[in-house]
Amino acid sequence: MRALVAIDVGTTGVKAIAIDEQGKVLAGAERGYVLSTPQPGWAEQSPEDWWAAAEAALAEVSAGREVAGIGLSGQMHGLVCLDARDRVIRPAILWNDQRTAAECTEIEERVGRSRLIELTGNRALTGFTAPKLLWLRRHEPDAYARIAHVMLPKDYVRLRLTGERATDVADASGTLLFDVAGRRWSDEVLGALELPAAWLPEALESPAISGTVRSGALAGVPVAAGAGDQAAAALGVGVDRPGPVSVVLGTSGVVLAALPAYAHDPEARVHAFCHAVPERWHLMSVMLSAAGSLRWLRDTVAPGLPYPALVEPAAAVPAGSDGLWFLPYLSGERSPHPDPLARGAFVGLTVRHTRAHMARAVLEGVAFGLKDSFQLMASAGLPSEKMQVRVSGGGVKSGLWRQILADVIGATLVSTNSTEGAAYGAALLASVGAGVYPDVQTACKQTIRTSDATEPGAQSSDYAHAYELYGGLYPALKETFTRI
Ligand code: XUL
Repeated sequence: MRALVAIDVGTTGVKAIAIDEQGKVLAGAERGYVLSTPQPGWAEQSPEDWWAAAEAALAEVSAGREVAGIGLSGQMHGLVCLDARDRVIRPAILWNDQRTAAECTEIEERVGRSRLIELTGNRALTGFTAPKLLWLRRHEPDAYARIAHVMLPKDYVRLRLTGERATDVADASGTLLFDVAGRRWSDEVLGALELPAAWLPEALESPAISGTVRSGALAGVPVAAGAGDQAAAALGVGVDRPGPVSVVLGTSGVVLAALPAYAHDPEARVHAFCHAVPERWHLMSVMLSAAGSLRWLRDTVAPGLPYPALVEPAAAVPAGSDGLWFLPYLSGERSPHPDPLARGAFVGLTVRHTRAHMARAVLEGVAFGLKDSFQLMASAGLPSEKMQVRVSGGGVKSGLWRQILADVIGATLVSTNSTEGAAYGAALLASVGAGVYPDVQTACKQTIRTSDATEPGAQSSDYAHAYELYGGLYPALKETFTRI
């Protein structure tokens, strides 16, 4: 029996899985690594650590199997700089690093904000790759002068595995150097930022073969281009085409919808990226504290309490939490407010409110934040009738949270058979690269099943007023946040 193997280069570690040709998970392995924060707001990792972890996890899941293909996914936006002999110049600067505010302003000035959005589908955000290069040019000119190649995290693993320098269009979309409509590097942005195009790897469609394993037990096995983790995770729940929408209720909250043609929000409050499927794009919103908000509440007011004990009493609190609202911007925000200074808040507290109210307000506040994303996507062209939302992530284990989400968004939520996230999507890309399936759509159709539908219930209409008032809170508090 032939296996397809995937390697997901995450922020806390590498996850590798092997699946069979029908999509059944055969094996999984994880290897962790450290994240260093040399200064507050900085986040760095050693590419060598990624490779050591990937090599070990890959060996574990492929031992004793006939591997037909490998797929890669990984944390997006990170900057890996190599010299002319492919040596790593400095630790990689990651997607969650906040050092580049000045460079983001510089990029929007050099390219022009609306032209940047038109070309790349995005605003200059601190986590993206381009501002990191400008930061390096300004602050570490010696390192900058040695750069011969720039790559994204999973693509460094590819280089070590195959000897090839390549990326995929979905991950490249998160660099801010990519012409997202044209699915190629943007000469206009590169020119405006005075960055050499020769530094960048070839950008392939996600299922394309980028090379073969160069040595060892897997020598000769084809490696698909793969995708950034969010696009791969969407494939993993069958969001390969316009129609179903993915919501991941993990530490962050991600909404992702595939589009038949390039479209973007004129203010880029949601991201527009190439999808991991040829001739498809996606809109994506990233809310930074989703289930992370519930974890914060638990750790703060009831350390050690199991989540069900925190959440179950909230079922007895009426919709709208008796006039208590929670703003979930505990780590600043990306969508719908690209604002690193945004803060979390409870608004409307009275002596009548209990811990159960606070828990419910958190569940509702996160659901309202996700609804904001759906509204932005609708205004950027996403059809909203009869939408099926495919939910995944730790937060959807709570039946109450699922119901609140279905009520607030006004759509049916379903789960899928795969719980492996981005690694599963990368394994499906490997299956197409290896010729098991003719295309990504067929791979998803043959392997992904939905179950456990949650329909919007009677409380749907109760949320309209609460959501309207929620919408006024950030604008009212924004000025205060900048002065804290
Ligand atoms: C996506 C994003 C994160 C990282 C890390 O835009 O910033 O999902 O890819 O997982």
